[in-house]
Amino acid sequence: MQAGGHCGSCHSPRGFAMNEQGYDETDPAFLSGALLDGWYAPALRGGSGNGIGRWSEDELAAYLKTGRSRHGVVFGSMLEAFNNSTAFMTEDDLRAMAHYMKSLPRAPEPAWEYDETTTASFAGGMAESQPGAQLYLQKCSYCHGRDGQNRGTFIPPLAGPSSVLADTPASVINIILNGAGRVVADGVPDSYRMPPYRVQLTDREIADIATFVRTSWGNTGGAVTPEEVRDLRERTDPFSDSVILLQMR
Ligand code: HEC
Ligand code: HEC
Repeated sequence: MQAGGHCGSCHSPRGFAMNEQGYDETDPAFLSGALLDGWYAPALRGGSGNGIGRWSEDELAAYLKTGRSRHGVVFGSMLEAFNNSTAFMTEDDLRAMAHYMKSLPRAPEPAWEYDETTTASFAGGMAESQPGAQLYLQKCSYCHGRDGQNRGTFIPPLAGPSSVLADTPASVINIILNGAGRVVADGVPDSYRMPPYRVQLTDREIADIATFVRTSWGNTGGAVTPEEVRDLRERTDPFSDSVILLQMR
């Protein structure tokens, strides 16, 4: 696993000199999640509450093979790891990797649980008083639904995924600004793709929608500011692959 695809180069936090922290499972920082180049690579450790703690080993192996599961679809810098590496690994290797990741203990944290309030307040016409909710209805709900749930393995959930629960809002902002790259997998159509909203929406509007998503359906991510959106807008370039490989500042 340490060798397999260098997962830790993105998923393990870095120290002061950009050295990876924790090269193997004896260090609790190993694969505990990290922000790199504008994308948050979540913890690849088990537990029962959040992240891959809620995925079965089969779902995890299938995600690495096909790029999709009902919990999430590869995007951002994970697309590189998928398109160049995990899509070509054997089912046995992927299953072994999934088993290994699930076996790593996860630091205790509050477990996410779905909360009906947001969906119910849409039905009652209440949520529209919130600017982010109104924009969500106009721009996002026809794919992601008023309930924020997944649509099979084609549309990932916005209720409870690692990107939304993370302390850093980077992945949520980045994918709204720039959309997702193409998932190349044999026999799996890529017809629903997350569109970029960089041109359509202002920093304030993206911050409002991101805040709405991060605080709805039981999500516990914090509010997002227009300044955070502007920073990522300036650091990412939608017209080249550097959307994924942007410069560190
Ligand atoms: C170039 C950086 C990079 C590399 C290398 C990388 N990942 Fe990722 N990974 C990410 C990012 C960013 C995300 C979040 C975006 C997403 O969910 O697709 C992610 C998401 C994931 C997820 C979803 C976790 C969740 O809670 O939603 C899994 C599982 C995963 N990676 C496994 C792996 C494995 C296994 C490897 C090594 C074979 C690997 N990754 C290598 C960047 C990377
Ligand atoms: C045309 C359908 C469509 C629309 C409209 C859309 N999305 Fe998405 N979204 C997707 C798909 C599909 C993915 C998974 C990545 C991919 O394959 O493109 C995704 C991924 C995401 C993710 C990452 C979820 C994860 O797994 O961690 C977030 C956050 C997100 N979308 C938010 C939004 C917001 C906010 C809006 C409205 C501004 C929006 N989306 C509009 C289809 C859509």
